[in-house]
Amino acid sequence: MDRVYVFDTTLRDGEQSPGVSLNVKEKIEIARQLARLGVDVIEVGFPVASPGDFNACREVARAVRGVTVCALARARQEDIDRAWEAIKEAEAPRIHTFIATSDIHLRHKLRMTREQVLEATRAAVAYSKRYAADVEFSAEDASRSDPDFLCQVLAEAIAAGATVLNIPDTVGYAVPEEFGELIRVIRERTPGIEKVILSCHCHNDLGLAVANTLAAVRNGVRQVEVTINGIGERAGNAALEEVVMALYAHRSGYGLVTGIRTEELYRTSKLVSTLTGMPVQPNKAIVGKNAFAHESGIHQDGVLKERSTYEIIDPAIIGVPRSRLVLGKHSGRHAFRVRLQELGYELTEEELNAAFQRFKELCDRKKEITDDDLLALVEEEIGQAPSIYELRYFHISSGTTVVPTATVALRIGDELREEAACGNGPVDAIYKAVDKLTGRHLRLDSYSIEAVTEGKDAIGSVTVRVTDEERNKTYLGRGISTDVLEASARAYVDALNKLAADLNGNRVRRLEGEV
Ligand code: KIV
Ligand code: ZN
Repeated sequence: MDRVYVFDTTLRDGEQSPGVSLNVKEKIEIARQLARLGVDVIEVGFPVASPGDFNACREVARAVRGVTVCALARARQEDIDRAWEAIKEAEAPRIHTFIATSDIHLRHKLRMTREQVLEATRAAVAYSKRYAADVEFSAEDASRSDPDFLCQVLAEAIAAGATVLNIPDTVGYAVPEEFGELIRVIRERTPGIEKVILSCHCHNDLGLAVANTLAAVRNGVRQVEVTINGIGERAGNAALEEVVMALYAHRSGYGLVTGIRTEELYRTSKLVSTLTGMPVQPNKAIVGKNAFAHESGIHQDGVLKERSTYEIIDPAIIGVPRSRLVLGKHSGRHAFRVRLQELGYELTEEELNAAFQRFKELCDRKKEITDDDLLALVEEEIGQAPSIYELRYFHISSGTTVVPTATVALRIGDELREEAACGNGPVDAIYKAVDKLTGRHLRLDSYSIEAVTEGKDAIGSVTVRVTDEERNKTYLGRGISTDVLEASARAYVDALNKLAADLNGNRVRRLEGEV
């Protein structure tokens, strides 16, 4: 069967989701999982955007193997130089350069004529080719561009050596019939189009990103640009798991395959949701909590008699854990490691030790430890920054007739320190006591809590987003525990550790710069 290449831009367009900011460790973790998932290309970032972005791209390019690593660059030499510098150590590097082609963008944003855009396209692709054999060109806002001019620009990019031509619906304006037709027209009218891979990149402003992507595939596109959970700028991008599973479910109709290991989809979705702090809506297709839940009696009866009556995909195909009882109080380290390996996690010795200790603590409070519990525990461990602050203990006095008061003890470096504070509620009191201990006053932008499994003894998973107002930087923290106050405290301390790691990292970079 014909192959559709999967280009994942979770780490670039996905990271452009409002409020999302991944650190280097988190980007590497996601990139490794994407490689395991079997994507063909990982777009790691936009290196010219900031030194932090550059550094993250370079580290990911060094860390992942077996996949093409791509960096974004405007059609400018300075951007292309930075992009190449960041990804040159990748096994298979690709430079992705772009310029807008719609009259709206030419007139109001670029203030360039069509001739100038043609020249910039040629120059950017040719300049990129001096570095990389593999060069992708995107015509930004292609779906609102004059098709004749668009084809001219694409022909220019092909003549200059582009290997992949990407057609973005940048503002999510397209509808499937028109977008499919645009692809057909491009294939018909662009000289040399048979020499390159045609790609599409659809945004979801009208909720049509996946439908537009499939229409493009029907009309000859063979690379789809997608993100995990559909995260991305504004309403997001086409969701990888939806595009892949639509092609899979209708494989006899499309006659196309991808290289995706579908049984890794669920875990990848969880990891991205955890590390970005963007929850997956329960009714989200493929990876939502309810995607395979049958509520109505008629449906339940049907599924019990024969799964295919109401289920188009077997949940096992996308790797939904069975949530069966796995380990307990008496399980040893070996069994713990083996079960994690079965779930697809290869932890370092240090990570395994920390996770195992947390597992034992959890066993004291919760009798039945399911796969979901284990996943939550391990993902908390993976997401953790090196701990400068560690929660040692806390006490709470709270109720309907008392002022909530918290006493919190943290290990800060080698020192154990304790502080007390009052607040509007117990969580507020904890956070105020932590602020006193660290001397930082962070703005709490969001706080969310979710039960990992069912039952009164379920693990609570807390995610907080805090902003360091002095530097205007946002950090995400996550904590889990059967005690929601403990989970809340752990999440806040996790965010503080990320902030501290970031400050340390910046100090190192500045020193490097000085040398
Ligand atoms: O949406 C868009 O047009 C983009 C391009 C840079 C590919 O993200
Ligand atoms: Zn985009």
